[in-house]
Amino acid sequence: MANRWKNDLTHESVTPAGAFFNRRQLLGGIGATGALAALPTGSGAQAALTPNSLEDISTYNNYYEFGTGKDDPAKYAHMLTTKPWRITIDGMVDKPGEYDLADILSQMTMEERIYRFRCVEAWSMVIPWNGFELADLLTLVGVKPEATYVAFETVLRPEEMPGTRFPVIEWPYVEGLRLDEAMHPLTLMATGVYGMPLPNQCGAPIRLVVPWKYGFKSIKAITRITLTDTQPPTTWNKANAGEYGFYSNVNPEVDHPRWSQAKERRIGAGLFAGREPTPMFNGYAEEVAGLYEGMDLKANF
Ligand code: MTE
Repeated sequence: MANRWKNDLTHESVTPAGAFFNRRQLLGGIGATGALAALPTGSGAQAALTPNSLEDISTYNNYYEFGTGKDDPAKYAHMLTTKPWRITIDGMVDKPGEYDLADILSQMTMEERIYRFRCVEAWSMVIPWNGFELADLLTLVGVKPEATYVAFETVLRPEEMPGTRFPVIEWPYVEGLRLDEAMHPLTLMATGVYGMPLPNQCGAPIRLVVPWKYGFKSIKAITRITLTDTQPPTTWNKANAGEYGFYSNVNPEVDHPRWSQAKERRIGAGLFAGREPTPMFNGYAEEVAGLYEGMDLKANF
């Protein structure tokens, strides 16, 4: 399969936010095929191709460790110390251990990936991430043959994360993927946006990005990765299993019990912009539909 979402940029060569809009490196489901085909033509399609501004990306956030308001993470996430950062990688791996993030990064191939981002709340953005493929990290630590899932955990530091003093969800924030989802080349570990280190509110120093799934799967500030043979618990599924499933693939045909998922509101598009149709798998069907062949996507939402 051709990696048409890939480009050959290194972290160093990525353009700063200002010059970015002239580059038009359009990757993944927003490339010449994929999501574009599933989006409206004309001005709507143009809007679909344009990355959101750094301001959109860093001021409208979900990060409950810092509060439940969209502007709380931008106000409070600076309290989190992100350097140095260690990640425990354990469970069914050949080389379990506590890894220094800087060490990991020195061994990874950094890339820029421009992905659509779709929240379960029916809003979307287009985000130019910098990061590396999770598959490369898993290969580095060596996945044992019996592993079938990957579990992720966010750091929990109540003294630096004021939102965790309230039981709005169960802390720490946890997420999980099936191993084949984790190994998929679209699955990214992001450390930057617009060629800059991730702002804290976006999940610094390292977060997951799974572009064909609702945004809550993309767990921030990862401190532990565990290879396992059982489906891991996930925060929003624990909070409300009737509303949030383990898979959480973007699917316009499976509504949230309290709202439709057929359309989405593009952040930054302006007050009078219409809602756009939600593409299946957020525009990445060509790449990922095969992972779910034969599966009932309504039952396994
Ligand atoms: N990760 C942690 N640790 N805590 C959170 O509250 N929110 C999730 C996800 N990752 C969340 C998290 C949700 S609901 C979404 S939509 C995305 O992060 C939002 O990412 P963004 O703020 O970078 O757009």
